[in-house]
Amino acid sequence: MSAGFDGRREVARFLSQRKDLGLTEIFLDGLSRERVLECAAGRGDESGREAEPAAVVASEVGLGRLDYEALKQEAESCERCRLSKGRTHVVFSDGNPQARLMVVGEAPGANEDRTGLPFVGQAGKLLDLLLASVDLSRKDTVYICNVLKCRPPGNRNPMPDEIDLCAPYLRRQIALVAPEVILAVGTFAAKLLTGLDRPLGKLRGSVYSYEGVPLVVTYHPAALLRNSGWTRSTWNDLQLLRQVMDGD
Ligand code: URA
Repeated sequence: MSAGFDGRREVARFLSQRKDLGLTEIFLDGLSRERVLECAAGRGDESGREAEPAAVVASEVGLGRLDYEALKQEAESCERCRLSKGRTHVVFSDGNPQARLMVVGEAPGANEDRTGLPFVGQAGKLLDLLLASVDLSRKDTVYICNVLKCRPPGNRNPMPDEIDLCAPYLRRQIALVAPEVILAVGTFAAKLLTGLDRPLGKLRGSVYSYEGVPLVVTYHPAALLRNSGWTRSTWNDLQLLRQVMDGD
C-alpha cells in the first residue's frame, strides 16, 4: 500500500470524525489549504520535499483552538509517538506562562521524566545561572519548555518523526504564551524554530523571527557542561538576548 493512499485515508477519517462531531471549521495552524491537500494526496512540494504523513497534518490541525489548559491536558494524555510508552511524566513546562521570555530546550532527561518539570538536572542548574546572569528567573520572568515533551530512551537525540509529531504542541504553546522573545537552546530547538538546517555554531549570533517573535539561539547548557570553550559565545548570546528584551 503506498504512503499516499494511507495519507488520504487518514485525512478522510479525520475529516469525517469532525463532521460527525458537528465541527465544520478546520484550523490549519500555519499549514496552507494547498499544503493539507498535497499531504492528503501524498505529494511533496515543488522543492522536492516529501509530504509529511497525514497523521502529522491531522495533529497540526487538531490543536489549533485549544486553550492553555486544554493543550496541557491533551499533551499529558498524548500517545502520538513511541516515546509515550516509556515515559513516567509528560514534561510540559515550568515557569510563568505570562513571562516575557520563553526558553525552548530539546527533550526531558531522566530527572525531568521523574519530576515532570523541564531542566531540573545539572543542565537546568546551569541554565538558571545563565538566565540569572542577565537578570532573568524561571520563578517570574521565564517560561521553559522543550521541543519534545517526553523523554527519549537513554537520552538519545530526538528522531525526526518524534519532532514532527510533537512540534504542534510547541507551536500552539508559543501561540498561547505569546512571549515577547524566544531563546532556543541547542541544535534541535534552534533548527526547528529558525527553520534552518545549520550547525548551532553557524546559527548563533543573529536575531531571527519566529512568527514575528524575536528569536535568539545559543548552545544547550548540557553541551556547555561538556565543552567550556563555548562559554564566551554563550555569554555573548545572553547579552544579545538581554539587548533584544531591553529593546536596544
Ligand atoms: N535538556 C533539555 O533540553 N530539556 C530538559 O528539560 C532537560 C535537559
